[in-house]
Amino acid sequence: MEKEIKILAIETSCDETAAAVVVNGRKVLSNIISSQIDIHTKFGGVVPEVASRKHIEAISLVVKEALEEANATLDEIDAIGVTYGPGLVGALLVGVQYAKGLAYATNKPLIRVNHIEGHISANFIQHNSLKPPFVSLVVSGGHTFIVYMKDYGEFDVLGETRDDAAGEAFDKVARAIGLGYPGGPKIDKLSKEGDKEAIKFPRANFHEKSLDFSFSGLKSAVLNYLNSMEMKGESINKANVAASFQKAVIDFLVDNSLKACSLKGVSQIAIAGGVASNSSLRETFIKEGAKKNIEILFPDPILCTDNAAMIGSAAYYEYMKGRIAPLDFNAIPNLKLGERQ
Ligand code: KG4
Ligand code: ZN
Repeated sequence: MEKEIKILAIETSCDETAAAVVVNGRKVLSNIISSQIDIHTKFGGVVPEVASRKHIEAISLVVKEALEEANATLDEIDAIGVTYGPGLVGALLVGVQYAKGLAYATNKPLIRVNHIEGHISANFIQHNSLKPPFVSLVVSGGHTFIVYMKDYGEFDVLGETRDDAAGEAFDKVARAIGLGYPGGPKIDKLSKEGDKEAIKFPRANFHEKSLDFSFSGLKSAVLNYLNSMEMKGESINKANVAASFQKAVIDFLVDNSLKACSLKGVSQIAIAGGVASNSSLRETFIKEGAKKNIEILFPDPILCTDNAAMIGSAAYYEYMKGRIAPLDFNAIPNLKLGERQ
C-alpha cells in the first residue's frame, strides 16, 4: 500500500489566512480559511499593510485549528508546505516565516509552493483521477494564464494577460457600476437579470495564433459606454452592462482555452482560481467543450478561492520530487509559474 504522506500547508499570499492538512496531495483532512474580506471591503480593495497585520493575528489559531480538525498532531505531519509567491510581499512573509519556524522547531522538511500552481492543483483534490498532461486556465484576481501542465510541477505557459487579470476586470467594472468589492460574485449575480447580447463590447485583437488576453481595453469600453450614456442623459441598465461585459470576458477565455487544447492535442481543461466560480463561465465552458469533446473540470467554489488545501496538494508533488527548501529562502512577490528560486 502507498505510504501516507501528510502535509500541513499554509497560505497567506493575499487576504485569506489559511491552513490545511492534506494526505498524498488528494485527500483533505482539514481546510481552514480565515477571511479578511470584511475589513478590506471598507476600503474598496485589499490594503497590504492591513492584510499583513491580520495574518499575524490569525496564523497561529488557523494552524492549530487545521491540525485539530484533521485530528493530527505536529508529530504525525511529514512535511510543511507554504506559499512563497506570487502575492503581497508583507502577507507572504507572515506565512513563510511561520512555516520556517515550525519546520525548524519540529525538524520537518519545508516545501515552497507557487500560489498559481496551488490553484491548478485544487483540481487534483476535486478530480481524483486527473493526471497531467492537461491544459489549465487560471483566472484569479491577480492572474490570467493558460498553461500546459506536462507533468506534476512542470508547466509551459501558452498564454497570459498583457494587462489586467480577469478577476481584476470584474472588480473594476463592478466598481464602475456601483456594485462594490469584490465585484466578481456581484456581476455574476446581476448578469442573470440582464441581456448578454444587449451591448457589443470589443475584444483585443492579437495574432491569430496568440493565446494571450487583454482586458483593460474592455474595461475602458465599459467606462466609455457608461460616460456616453450619462452625457446623453440616458438611463443605464446595469444588468445589461454586467451581462454583456461578462460575456465578452468569458468568450475570450473559452476561445483561447479550446485553441490551447487543439494546439497540444489534449482533451481536458482544468479551470482554477476565484473567477472559476462564475456560473456563466462554468455553463459556457461545458457547452462549448462538449461540442469539441473536451472535458471541462472545475474545483468546488471553496477550492477556487484562496485556500491552503490546494497548496498542500502542490506541496505533495514537490515533496515526491525531493524538492525540499533550504531555511534561508525568501518570499518572491512576482514569482513566475514554473520558476524555482
Ligand atoms: O483566486 P482568488 O480568490 O484570489 C486571487 O488569488 O486573486 O480570486 C479572487 C478574484 C476576485 O477578483 C473576485 O472578484 C473573483 O475572483 N471572483 C469572481 C467570482 N467569484 C470570485 N469573478 C467572477 N465571478 C465570480 N462568481
Ligand atoms: Zn489566488
